[in-house]
Amino acid sequence: MASSYSINFLLFCSLLFPIISPSVAQSTSFRPKALLLPVTKDSSTLQYITNINQRTPLVPVKLTLDLGGQFLWVDCEQGYVSSTYKPARCRSAQCNLAESKACGDCNSGPKPGCNNNTCGLFPYNPIIRTSTSGELAQDVISIQSTDGSNPGKVVSVPNLLFTCGATFLLEGLASGVKGMAGLGRTKIGLPSQFAAAFSLKRKFAICLSSSARSNGVVFFGDGPYVFLPGITVSDSLIYTPLFINPVSTAGTSFEGEKSAEYFIGVKSIKINEKVVPVNTSLLSIDSNGIGGTKISTVNPYTVLHTSIYNSVVDAFVKSLANVPRVAAVAPFGACFNSSSIGSTRVGPAVPAIDLVLQSKDVYWRMFGANSMVEVRDGVLCLGFVDGGVDPRTSIVIGGHQLEDNLLQFDLASSKLGFSSSLLFRRTTCANFNFTSNA
Ligand SMILES: *[C@@H]1O[C@H](CO)[C@@H](O)[C@H](O)[C@H]1NC(C)=O
Ligand SMILES: *[C@@H]1O[C@H](CO)[C@@H](O)[C@H](O)[C@H]1NC(C)=O
Ligand SMILES: *[C@@H]1O[C@H](CO)[C@@H](O)[C@H](O)[C@H]1NC(C)=O
Ligand SMILES: *[C@@H]1O[C@H](CO)[C@@H](O)[C@H](O)[C@H]1NC(C)=O
Repeated sequence: MASSYSINFLLFCSLLFPIISPSVAQSTSFRPKALLLPVTKDSSTLQYITNINQRTPLVPVKLTLDLGGQFLWVDCEQGYVSSTYKPARCRSAQCNLAESKACGDCNSGPKPGCNNNTCGLFPYNPIIRTSTSGELAQDVISIQSTDGSNPGKVVSVPNLLFTCGATFLLEGLASGVKGMAGLGRTKIGLPSQFAAAFSLKRKFAICLSSSARSNGVVFFGDGPYVFLPGITVSDSLIYTPLFINPVSTAGTSFEGEKSAEYFIGVKSIKINEKVVPVNTSLLSIDSNGIGGTKISTVNPYTVLHTSIYNSVVDAFVKSLANVPRVAAVAPFGACFNSSSIGSTRVGPAVPAIDLVLQSKDVYWRMFGANSMVEVRDGVLCLGFVDGGVDPRTSIVIGGHQLEDNLLQFDLASSKLGFSSSLLFRRTTCANFNFTSNA
């Protein structure tokens, strides 16, 4: 079952190779302003799923969205048929762009994922925390453009770089998924490749739907990002710096490699406007890359260092003292009888949880729709989970807390724009008008 592709750990000196601009380019004369991918939620795994059309002939490839993933990887061992598949030759410009540090051979090819004298990377599945070595390659993909309000013309990227994963690496992913769409901060992450291919602004935005029945959306490029009924969400974002963790958080990495994930600077947590006591040294990233706050689409719920988790649960329970607690339902620790909790436009009427950022006036406020999870009829739980006493990252903001919020990642200025709950603005992430106006 393991791939026969193997990498020789010959670190080659990048000085030997001229820097050539990437061969990712568009073929048509139409220049899109932005691109989009629809995203659905898989109700059994709680993963966010998208589809990308790839290969010749084009086939839809179902992928789990991985916000912090380094690149697109797909299973090339089973069912990869394409006349436009091109492995990246060792020491080529593509290998250089991908910052591959190793070349490899394969004895059971040639076929996609198995060629001699190619460079390789390490596709990673963060759900099962497993990585493998895989050939770097290029193939055509096609994707819808957008004016921000509707999908438009389909455009193609003839030589999109990706890595071949293996069938065993699909374990833990939703049914039918063939790989992961990495939106991470690398030169070959999808946002950078799409920006380079169409000269888009180096920005992208995610808006995840809370419903498994309706599409959320990822935009590549700048706004406007418009949701029905005609609400330009990109007009009123709050901004906070994005931080780079100097130590890779991927499954396999080399010394000195930075993390491709998106970190923000949470300085304190407030519940009902009162500061929750936490050990603030857990909130910064130390020289070993430990600590801090990141955003993740592969964690269904926010995961907190045990000491932060205990403080948050404590403060939350105190502020809801008049609501009867009921037996906890795993993975949550604090559950309540919902018949004593009112409802509001932004979900169950519970105290707001604020992640306070660069100053006391800049905070990401979470309302009931994002903080509470209805585990069954009549029972609402605080949707945060205990990450243990020794997690790499102290706060991992997970999918449930991101839903119906638009988050724009600006790679050029290294900042995050966030909308807070769109429910306040009487729209949702499922309200993008997917009717094409091409
Ligand atoms: C790679 O090279 C080896 C040794 O020359 C050869 O046996 C093998 O068939 C080649 N594999 C491919 C995929 O070309
Ligand atoms: C706070 O966290 C740091 C980093 O984990 C740890 O070294 C320190 O002992 C903690 N301080 C307290 C008072 O628990
Ligand atoms: C919640 O409270 C109501 C009213 O007191 C009660 O009928 C119901 O059984 C409670 N539900 C749970 C899950 O405890
Ligand atoms: C969605 O977009 C289509 C195409 O522009 C338009 O005809 C339709 O009226 C829009 N739907 C709504 C609900 O506005």
